[in-house]
Amino acid sequence: MNREEALNCVKEQLTEHRYTHTLGVMSAAISLAERFGADVKKAEIAAIFHDYAKFRPKEEMKGIIQKEQMNPLLLEYSPELWHAPVG
Ligand SMILES: [Fe+2]
Repeated sequence: MNREEALNCVKEQLTEHRYTHTLGVMSAAISLAERFGADVKKAEIAAIFHDYAKFRPKEEMKGIIQKEQMNPLLLEYSPELWHAPVG
């Protein structure tokens, strides 16, 4: 998936404000990856999708955490923190 495809994918899920925020996070992530020698494409795709699940229902996110066998400790933290790993 290239940048344009990823951005089109998340844009459908986000408010205009949240999409603008995502573009800023993407830009910062790319800059930081370049500065610190990290994988720029991985940083870019992680930034683009970090808020993908921001507006999903709590029960849907909980189900994804369990189905995908993510770290169960996630469920002990506030649901406000679930959207990034779920995304
Ligand atoms: Fe964010």
